[in-house]
Amino acid sequence: MDADIQEIRGRATAEIDQVSSPEGLDRFRVTFLARKGLVAQLFESLKTVPPAEKPRVGKALNELREYVQGLHDRRAADLTASGAGRHAPDLTLPGRTRFAGSRHPLTRVLDEIKEIFVSMGFAIADGPEIEDDYHNFGALNFPPDHPARDMQDTFFLDANALLRTHTSPVQIRVMEVMQPPIRHIMPGKVYRNEAINARSYCMFHQVEGLCVDRGVTFSDLKGTLIAFIKEFYGPSLKYRFRPTFFPFTEPSADIYITCFMCGGRGCRICKQSGWLEILGCGMVDPAVFRSVGYDAERYTGYAFGMGIERIALLRYGIDDIRLFFQNDVRFLSQF
Ligand code: PHE
Repeated sequence: MDADIQEIRGRATAEIDQVSSPEGLDRFRVTFLARKGLVAQLFESLKTVPPAEKPRVGKALNELREYVQGLHDRRAADLTASGAGRHAPDLTLPGRTRFAGSRHPLTRVLDEIKEIFVSMGFAIADGPEIEDDYHNFGALNFPPDHPARDMQDTFFLDANALLRTHTSPVQIRVMEVMQPPIRHIMPGKVYRNEAINARSYCMFHQVEGLCVDRGVTFSDLKGTLIAFIKEFYGPSLKYRFRPTFFPFTEPSADIYITCFMCGGRGCRICKQSGWLEILGCGMVDPAVFRSVGYDAERYTGYAFGMGIERIALLRYGIDDIRLFFQNDVRFLSQF
């Protein structure tokens, strides 16, 4: 009996979906709900159920009848509302398209960078976007009066809390909890109090890299970053290292590649120089090792950092950084 109830319930549920006209609805009613319909027949066989079972089965049957009646009544209402039975469906209506998602251009660039460094043995680490002065500046050997600490550049939340201005504080956080050898990249968001326009935004992404061990040299830095550049930008691209200054590395360098917009002849993008700066790097300053309690006599290391938006702008020929953050599908669906 229970199985019969289930079966009729299943049939009614399936058949009501096929009903699209008043005639069809009437056939449904006759099959299930009429005086000799399937539900009534089940009530008839209630006689054969053992007395002890009768209350339970009777209740189930009443529920079945209400359920099937409900299906019928709802469909009747739908048919009246849509006027079905009077009008055939409009076959000329355009179909409904489904939009396929795509990966954000920044995610694509980041995934590619991660893949290359992971293949070279780097692990991935991250740290907080709200930092304290010590991790963002002090431990990285920024002198107390360094201009980067100025309100002009840094979003301070209170006297000590700030939005990190670069991913370098994650270097400190990794070294605070691990001993060498270290080989990590640290992707993440960074914030700078800059005017928002086509070229700059108050938030962007960086990937930091850190390698610390005994006997790490500037040649290791060069070998690793050149391997990365060749893999990422192509094997025949020209690059150059130029000395620069960061408080947390010594010596420090910026890496430039030939401008691929103009092939090095000079254009608006490379400001007529023929070169694009893509990366800052250097040997970890012993003062940084001292902040995290590493023996600077024993260990050496290199670090690097690059901006993701800049790379994505150049790679996809995008001329406005704000497009990355507006979530306009007309832009995003192109990737
Ligand atoms: N943190 C530097 C910046 O934001 C980049 C950098 C990282 C340079 C690591 C050297 C070493 O510009």
